[in-house]
Amino acid sequence: VTVSLTVPDLAGLHRRRSAKWSSVADDVLSLTVAEMDFPVAAPIAESLRRAIDRDDLGYAPSENRPLLDAFIGFAKRRLDWSVDPEQVWVLPDVVEGLLALCGLLDSGDEVCVPVPSYPPFLTTLPRAGVRVRQIAMLQDGSLDLEQLRVAFSEGARALILASPYNPTGRVFARAELAAIAELCGSYDAYVFSDEIHAPLVLGETPHTCWLEVSDAARDCGVVLTSASKTFNLAGLKAAMLVTAGGRGQQLAARLTNAHAHAGLFGVISAEAAFADGDEWLDAVLAQLRLNSAQLADELARALPTVGFEPPQATYLAWLDCTKLGLGDDPAKGFVDHGSVALSSGPSFGAPGDGFARLNFATSPEHLSEAIRRMATAAGAAAAANA
Ligand SMILES: Cc1ncc(COP(=O)(O)O)c(C=O)c1O
Repeated sequence: VTVSLTVPDLAGLHRRRSAKWSSVADDVLSLTVAEMDFPVAAPIAESLRRAIDRDDLGYAPSENRPLLDAFIGFAKRRLDWSVDPEQVWVLPDVVEGLLALCGLLDSGDEVCVPVPSYPPFLTTLPRAGVRVRQIAMLQDGSLDLEQLRVAFSEGARALILASPYNPTGRVFARAELAAIAELCGSYDAYVFSDEIHAPLVLGETPHTCWLEVSDAARDCGVVLTSASKTFNLAGLKAAMLVTAGGRGQQLAARLTNAHAHAGLFGVISAEAAFADGDEWLDAVLAQLRLNSAQLADELARALPTVGFEPPQATYLAWLDCTKLGLGDDPAKGFVDHGSVALSSGPSFGAPGDGFARLNFATSPEHLSEAIRRMATAAGAAAAANA
C-alpha cells in the first residue's frame, strides 16, 4: 500500500471545521495550529468508521488495555522506551495532564517554563494555582542551567520541558537531559516532560525519553505524550501520563479519576495509530524532511533576511523575522498584507518578539505559496517604510 499525502486546495482546506481553518478568512492560507494538512492514516480512519458503524459514541472505559498494549509497543519500537503498563494514566490531553500535575503542587508554588514557550504553558498553567517562572533559553536553544539552579534554590518546584522543543524543534541530547535531571534531583524538583512531538524527529539526533535518561531522571520525572501531534488527532482527546517509579510515580498516584475524561474516539484512534500507523508515519516523516529543506531553500531566495534553523524535530519552523520591518509581531503583517497566517511570536513569551512560527506540514505547493505571500507582505512593509 502506498500512503497518499495529497492535500486539498485552499477551498477544500477551508471546508474543514478545525480551529486552524475556521478561525481565518476564506482567502487566508493557514500555517498556524500544530495540525497537519495531510489525510489521516487509513487504519485510523477505518477504526473510527467501524466505531460509527456500531454506534459506539459513548464514554471511554476506565480500563484501556488494548490502547496500553499498542502504546507500549510503539514506545519500544519507535522511541526505544520501555513503558511499565502499571504506570500509565490515560487522560484527555497533555495540557490537562500538566494542569492536573501542577494542581498537586501547593498553591502559589513556582513552576519553571523555558521561553520562548508553547503559549498554553504560560497562559493555562496558572489556572492550577501555580506561578509560572519564565527561564529564557540560551542563544543556542539549550536550557540555562544556572538560571534553573537559582529558580530551584528559590523554591521552584518543577520544570515543564517540551522535549523535543516547541517552537524551536530542538532535540535535547541525552547528556543535556542527564545534567538537568541531576540538578532537579538535588533540589527535589519535578520534571514534567512533554514528549508529544517525540516520534517526529527529522534530523540526526535521536530523541531520548526522559524516563530512559538516568535514575535521577526516573525519580523526578513524569512524561506526558499522545498520538495527537504525530497522527493528527488533536480533537479526539486521549493522552498518556507515564512514570517510572520514585517521586514521579508517587505524585501521579495522587491524580484522581483523570482517565474518566478521555474521549472514546481518542482512545480508539490512538490505539489504531500506535498499532498500525508506522507506514503512514514513515511517509509523513519523509515528506516533512523534504518540506523543511524546501522551506530553507525558498526562504533563502525570497526572504534572505529571515533567520531559520531547520528543526531537528516537529513540523514547526521558528522564524526570526526581526529584520523584515514587520515589527514585534510579524505574523500580523503576514496575514494583513499577505493573507498567510503564522503563529504570533510574542505569544511564546518576550523572546518571541520579532518571530513567527510556521507549520510546514502541508503540500509543497501550499508551502511555496505561503512563502510567496510572506514575501508580498514583507515587500509591502518595506514600501511603506521607504
Ligand atoms: C509541546 C506541546 N505540548 C502540548 C500540546 C498540546 O497537546 P494536547 O492537545 O494534548 O494538550 C502541543 C500542541 O501543539 C505542543 O506543541
